[in-house]
Amino acid sequence: MVESKSNVGSGESMSEPARGEIPRGLLVLFLVLPLFSFIYLIVGGGFFAPEVKPASRTIAGAPSVAAGGVADEPQRAEQVKAIMAVVPSASHDAKPATSPSEADVTAAAAQFNALCAVCHGPKGEGDGAAGAALNPKPMNFHARSYKEQPKGVAYWVIKNGLSGTSRRSGMPAFALPDPQVWALVEHTYRLGK
Ligand code: HEC
Repeated sequence: MVESKSNVGSGESMSEPARGEIPRGLLVLFLVLPLFSFIYLIVGGGFFAPEVKPASRTIAGAPSVAAGGVADEPQRAEQVKAIMAVVPSASHDAKPATSPSEADVTAAAAQFNALCAVCHGPKGEGDGAAGAALNPKPMNFHARSYKEQPKGVAYWVIKNGLSGTSRRSGMPAFALPDPQVWALVEHTYRLGK
């Protein structure tokens, strides 16, 4: 009763499909959808796509294990690998003239809070406020992959920064004396241990 009333004079009844007839919109959908999936599979190579294997680039000394460590360890492992790839390989195995003393490392902890925590976070977990918007993210020094890389890589990155490299990241260069840089390296390797 109510139905017939509402249809009268509205003109809508003209476009409504008769009982038993499939609405045209639905029909088009039924025809077009399979057509598109078919085109996708054949032309787009859904059926015949070649197997894409991840580029296997082996860097000597690169961390091999992505499991364990911090929550996003696999991503951190990739990040470390990428950083290692832009650091000249001759610098990977650089060593300090003399190992930093305990006093040096304690001083480095204070220096870290003053210079690095803003991006790398107070505990060095890569979660500092100034680093939140950076891509790639500041390194999480608790990551296992970070600890597994040669210390010379970290030394080079602190000295030279990464902005001049293909990483073009927010990691700045720090013009600090060598012993201070090595003490900072030591501090970051001890974080989260
Ligand atoms: C403006 C933000 C910012 C500040 C300040 C900063 N960093 Fe970084 N740092 C980054 C970012 C971003 C990355 C990751 C770069 C990438 O993946 O390309 C990074 C990466 C690094 C790495 C490389 C990790 C590796 O695998 O070797 C080290 C080491 C490092 N930072 C140490 C420090 C130290 C030490 C300080 C303070 C003296 C510092 N950073 C200050 C943003 C910052």
